[in-house]
Amino acid sequence: MDPRVIKMICMIPVVVCILLNAAGICVADIPLFDAALTTRLCTERALPNGYPCQEFTVTTRDGYILAIQRIPYGSTGPENGLSRPPVILGAGVFQQAALWLLNPSEQSLGFILADKGFDVWFLNFRGTAESSKHVSLSIEDKAFWIWSFDELASFDVPAALQLVNQTTGSQAFYIGHSQGTTIGLAALVDPSVRQMFKAAVLLSPIAYLSQTTSQLAIAFSQMYLDQVYLLSGARQFDMSAGSLASGLIDRACREIDCGFTLNSFTGPNSEFNSSRMGFYTTFMPEPTSANNVAHLAQLIRNDGFRKYDMGEEGNMNKYGQATPPEYDLSSIPKEFPILIASGGWDHLSDLVDVQNLIYNLRCNVKTLYLPRYGHTDYVLGTNASTEAFTQVMDFLRSV
Ligand SMILES: *[C@@H]1O[C@H](CO)[C@@H](O)[C@H](O)[C@H]1NC(C)=O
Ligand SMILES: *[C@@H]1O[C@H](CO)[C@@H](O)[C@H](O)[C@H]1NC(C)=O
Ligand SMILES: *[C@@H]1O[C@H](CO)[C@@H](O)[C@H](O)[C@H]1NC(C)=O
Repeated sequence: MDPRVIKMICMIPVVVCILLNAAGICVADIPLFDAALTTRLCTERALPNGYPCQEFTVTTRDGYILAIQRIPYGSTGPENGLSRPPVILGAGVFQQAALWLLNPSEQSLGFILADKGFDVWFLNFRGTAESSKHVSLSIEDKAFWIWSFDELASFDVPAALQLVNQTTGSQAFYIGHSQGTTIGLAALVDPSVRQMFKAAVLLSPIAYLSQTTSQLAIAFSQMYLDQVYLLSGARQFDMSAGSLASGLIDRACREIDCGFTLNSFTGPNSEFNSSRMGFYTTFMPEPTSANNVAHLAQLIRNDGFRKYDMGEEGNMNKYGQATPPEYDLSSIPKEFPILIASGGWDHLSDLVDVQNLIYNLRCNVKTLYLPRYGHTDYVLGTNASTEAFTQVMDFLRSV
């Protein structure tokens, strides 16, 4: 038979289901048609490891077209009758969502969740490789890059939640790592977004940053290199070799002994598999916006967990006050369950800042503390499945 005919026949159930879905009737899993998948998360990580994969795009209210992938069940197939709670995974800055699948299947949280009965959704925040489109702007346009994690929380997260709600009819769990937790917390402060979340897990959390002991982050922010970058006029912060961003990082590294650059940023990582570094770097670092980098530097320079500081006049125009408003963490109601997982070796999410976060949350916080864990260990650590992910899943099942 002509392959095009085979392809058309294979697509019939997909089309039927999409039509029924639109009518709100059919929530069955869309049959997987491998040849149609295009994102590296699906084609290079999920499928070769024996996992089903689906791709979606959603358009945010401000016009960004985001790629969202889904691993609806594990490598052993769907067990009928089992209800699979949806989990949205939010990665940190400079990361695409494939981060959650970069280790072998028995070590990667994205695969483990699918094998243990969860319906796993991967959010690629705007500006990263898979989410570099907009309804009217191109990534070459400066206007494409005018946002910080405030917008990732107020536009990208709700768009993902709505997709999950439309597809599954359920609330979602949120698991974030690093800036993925910053975004998650900022989103949870908004009651209309929070009601679509069932619980949240914050791995290597970042809200307060003023006590960070990350040498590179401190040097970069104290030298105001984020502002130097903005003065250059560039709005995309791209760290590829030879870029202005990598030049500024080298500049900061002249003040401190960077050694292994990743560690001078995160602190030591005890279970990092350095023989996979070459492979990891085919997926990272992803670009972000210069404003987002500036926002993170503001958190280091100033106390508090605040919105982007646009200067006195800009703040008056945008927020109606001279200083940017704080995210009111105490507004997250006390019955809302949060698990905070931190590590004693983590320099970026320093324990003093993490304690401050826990103190400022009034809700039902559980904690996991691993004294010998570093910043990246909570995603890429070779023994995170036994050290952390089991507890994460126990927490999700308990709420
Ligand atoms: C899903 O969306 C519908 C329609 O907007 C809403 O009524 C419902 O409460 C949402 N469900 C959850 C779990 O958020
Ligand atoms: C580290 O990565 C290498 C290369 O992928 C692999 O052969 C090795 O088994 C990994 N080590 C651990 C502890 O997972
Ligand atoms: C996992 O790593 C931590 C941190 O290095 C270590 O303390 C622990 O013993 C390791 N656990 C296993 C099961 O290897």
